Amino acid sequence: MACFTRFAALLSFLALVPLCLSAKTMGGYLYPQFYDHSCPRVQEIVKSVVAKAVAREARTAASLLRLHFHDCFVKGCDASLLLDSTGSIVSEKMSNPNRNSARRFEVLDEIKSALEKECPHTVSCADILALAARDSTVLTGGPSWEVPLGRRDSREASLSGSNNNIPAPNNTFQTILTKFKLQGLDIVDLVALSGSHTIGNSRCTSFRQRLYNQTGNGKPDFTLDQSYAAQLRGRCPRSGGDQNLFFLDFVSPVHFDNSYFKNLLAYKGLLNSDQILVTQNQASMELVKKYAENNELFFEQFAKSMVKMGNVSPLTGSRGEIRKNCRKINSH
Ligand code: HEM
Repeated sequence: MACFTRFAALLSFLALVPLCLSAKTMGGYLYPQFYDHSCPRVQEIVKSVVAKAVAREARTAASLLRLHFHDCFVKGCDASLLLDSTGSIVSEKMSNPNRNSARRFEVLDEIKSALEKECPHTVSCADILALAARDSTVLTGGPSWEVPLGRRDSREASLSGSNNNIPAPNNTFQTILTKFKLQGLDIVDLVALSGSHTIGNSRCTSFRQRLYNQTGNGKPDFTLDQSYAAQLRGRCPRSGGDQNLFFLDFVSPVHFDNSYFKNLLAYKGLLNSDQILVTQNQASMELVKKYAENNELFFEQFAKSMVKMGNVSPLTGSRGEIRKNCRKINSH
């Protein structure tokens, strides 16, 4: 009997080994209750600062949602994006996708300082980004989800990672899909998460090529509705006006809904990377159709894909640190 018990114990120990190893190598798991004891009001505090910032400027919701994406695609969701340049750090804020574009970092500073008062040295900047992205979605009318928590902050930034991993608006469908796959995300995630472009703005420089010289032959993109293109040319000239702003979803620019997908079916996607979801790949085109027809389905998948993106290579356990100031690594 004793022998059997020992054998059973050995078996259950062996069963646990792979789990422990994977928890160790992968750095452990995120879970929504992570701050329940250490900072029970974290969600309330993040939400109230985000709500005030969005009330002051509606676009803030879009800007914060995008920051979480630009963080997660570079070395994982570790707030590397938030570091400013210092002696050893070259900020990701200088990269092509972020320069003159990524914005509202000061809202994260405001959240961080409120949290440092409430529960010092407890909540990571990476988790603040994940919560602010969820709250921004909800505040603009989108779906809600429980945010798994417990990320820690990196002590490094990667300018090259930011330039290479984040898809560009003129990338091909295959390149964009490959960039998603490198993060463990698939075509369903790509289409659903592109639905973020139901809110927020783009600068003229991000889509000008489509208006004048799509393939180098001096002709506009024929997959862009021509009267919509003419309208866009009004404020996005051949040269100059690079920073002029346009709604990504002209139908309901500050409302999170599925009109982005309806626009794509009408050839009124603003970015090339938006429109190619219906022109370059059959599977993504079918997903666009589904989300255009069924808002609920879009919301459900968006929430799932956001959780999946938020799980990209987090630092957990004793890796990384909890920054005191999201813009700088702690001094030791
Ligand atoms: C699929 C590949 C993607 C490409 C090529 C892309 C590209 C872009 C570009 C070029 C802009 C306009 C930037 C500017 O002109 O300043 C933009 C804005 C935006 N992107 Fe994406 N994006 C992609 C996916 C995503 C994802 C996955 C999310 C979020 C999960 C996202 C959220 C946003 C939001 C909310 C804005 C508006 C930001 C604001 O108004 O401040 N994008 N994106």
